[in-house]
Amino acid sequence: MEDFLRVAKEAAKRGGDIHKRFFKRDIKTKTKGREYDLLTEADLEAEKAIVGVIKKRCAGHNILAEENVYEKTDSVYTWVIDPLDGTNNFANNMPIFCSSVGLAKEGEVILGAVYDVMRDELFWAAKGEGAFMNGKEIEVSSSGTLTSSILITGFYYNRGREMERTLKRIKEFLSNGILGIRRLGSAALDLCYIACGRASGFWECELSPWDFAAGKILVEEAGGNITDSEGRPLTLKNSSVVASNGKIHEDMLEIINGAF
Ligand code: IPD
Ligand code: CA
Ligand code: CA
Repeated sequence: MEDFLRVAKEAAKRGGDIHKRFFKRDIKTKTKGREYDLLTEADLEAEKAIVGVIKKRCAGHNILAEENVYEKTDSVYTWVIDPLDGTNNFANNMPIFCSSVGLAKEGEVILGAVYDVMRDELFWAAKGEGAFMNGKEIEVSSSGTLTSSILITGFYYNRGREMERTLKRIKEFLSNGILGIRRLGSAALDLCYIACGRASGFWECELSPWDFAAGKILVEEAGGNITDSEGRPLTLKNSSVVASNGKIHEDMLEIINGAF
């Protein structure tokens, strides 16, 4: 486990090096079909760097990454990679993005690392070993009520039903007196912020496995809870995600599933 954790941290940091090299430079950007779903040169280069570290150090493991498809192997291990989470921020010179590297064994995430090169914050966690930021153990917030909670949300690249659902829930949470609502633009970092107590809850109607794999183990090891919007365990498939400090999880699920 220690070795794999080292690989995850190194890979996430290599991704961060690429982000730094390309950030605020005149880089090539295209869209992935919808004009608000961007792909930059930095996404591709960061994936190349991260996958390079993994292939060198853990040859034969499976790789599930956002930008390319990799040959399937018979290994029980799968690395789940978002080379640049927060591409829209990145492409608009907004310094909120990260690289995210998780490792699953037989479908269960056992460790992960997320790196925010702008703040030089490296988050990591491993099953049964706690969650850390730059070497210091982190834990979720102690907030016991929605009224003392800052929540974070996000919008999948969907301007239809999912967007409508999210907007309704934002309204409902605000009328229930939450302390504040944020939309940072990087789901992996959102989850790290739940893990280190900067916010108490996060939800998004649909995310891909690379958005939440590393963040999931961070939230769990920091003492929080992470499920889908029905309260079920997350698998490595596209899913709704609700993460919290644990204490406000049921209250969040109630509002998210409320009839209105
Ligand atoms: C996106 C970010 C964003 C979330 C989107 C994701 P990307 O990932 O995590 O916060 O709202 O649903 O797709 O495209 O920047 O890697
Ligand atoms: Ca992402
Ligand atoms: Ca991405």
